[in-house]
Amino acid sequence: MKIKAAENGPYLIEVNEAKLIKNGSEQVLTQKTIALCRCGQSSNKPFCDGSHKKCEFKGEVVEIEIK
Ligand code: FES
Repeated sequence: MKIKAAENGPYLIEVNEAKLIKNGSEQVLTQKTIALCRCGQSSNKPFCDGSHKKCEFKGEVVEIEIK
């Protein structure tokens, strides 16, 4: 699994498939890349909704690979 913190943006997680359970409701995610909010401003947490651009969030690029 690879996790990347995008420059001034969300955490990007590369997966084949993931199951999200949020507040008791289950959702299967089939995207190859899931963007999780890092700025705290998304109205669709835990996902990024692009709000980081409006709040001018600043964050470094970080890449992590988990084997
Ligand atoms: S990182 Fe995109 S909305 Fe927070």
